[in-house]
Amino acid sequence: MVETRPLTPEELLSTTRAVRRRLDFTRPVEREVIEECLRLAQQAPSGSNSQKWHFVVVTEASRRAELGELWRRGAERYLASAEANPLPSRDERLLDSVRHLAAHIHEVPVHVIPCVNGRTDGEAAFVQAGRWASIMPAAWSFMLAARARGLGTAWTSFHLAHELDAADILGIPYEDVMQAALIPVAYTVGGPFKPARRNGLDTMVHWDSW
Ligand SMILES: Cc1cc2nc3c(=O)[nH]c(=O)nc-3n(C[C@H](O)[C@H](O)[C@H](O)COP(=O)(O)O)c2cc1C
Repeated sequence: MVETRPLTPEELLSTTRAVRRRLDFTRPVEREVIEECLRLAQQAPSGSNSQKWHFVVVTEASRRAELGELWRRGAERYLASAEANPLPSRDERLLDSVRHLAAHIHEVPVHVIPCVNGRTDGEAAFVQAGRWASIMPAAWSFMLAARARGLGTAWTSFHLAHELDAADILGIPYEDVMQAALIPVAYTVGGPFKPARRNGLDTMVHWDSW
């Protein structure tokens, strides 16, 4: 069943899943739709309203193939380490969906790489927090806006172990700019998305003190 009516804010916030298995690799994503999402992303907060953010939108097949290779290397390391873990802590559904995306990452029509100006390697945690938080809200806004338009996304970090190689492929000035993620973007197939299971609030909320 295709979702036809607009999502309510609650639906949008509770059903924006990491989509790996239900991406439509055959349907092109229009540049205007990506630009609408990016304009909404620009409304996000950033430290001192610095807006040190950049989004590299990759549609060229050859570059997606090169990035896909880096992503797959990271995925393989993750899978090998997860597979070495004993059951039942292993999330087989998650691993299967990672295997699926690893096999098809180069076919995803758009790869979006959110970036932020200024490397914080080796800086104090508060400096790093400020810099990363100057791109992550915008990137998440992009993903919510995409979901509202029938697109699926997933926050992924597998390629970051090869950030320098990705910078070379895309011409990103590595010395001055950090990549935060690689977000595969495609229209989705199949029925509506559902809220995921999460632990009770008591496992994470601390009123007035820890
Ligand atoms: C910091 C971060 C890094 C992530 N890295 C990856 C990744 O490299 N590959 C991947 O497939 N998913 C990655 N994810 C997606 C998570 O696995 C996903 O958000 C989580 O499993 C929840 O999935 P759900 O939205 O379906 O409930 C990452 C998420 C975050 C926030």
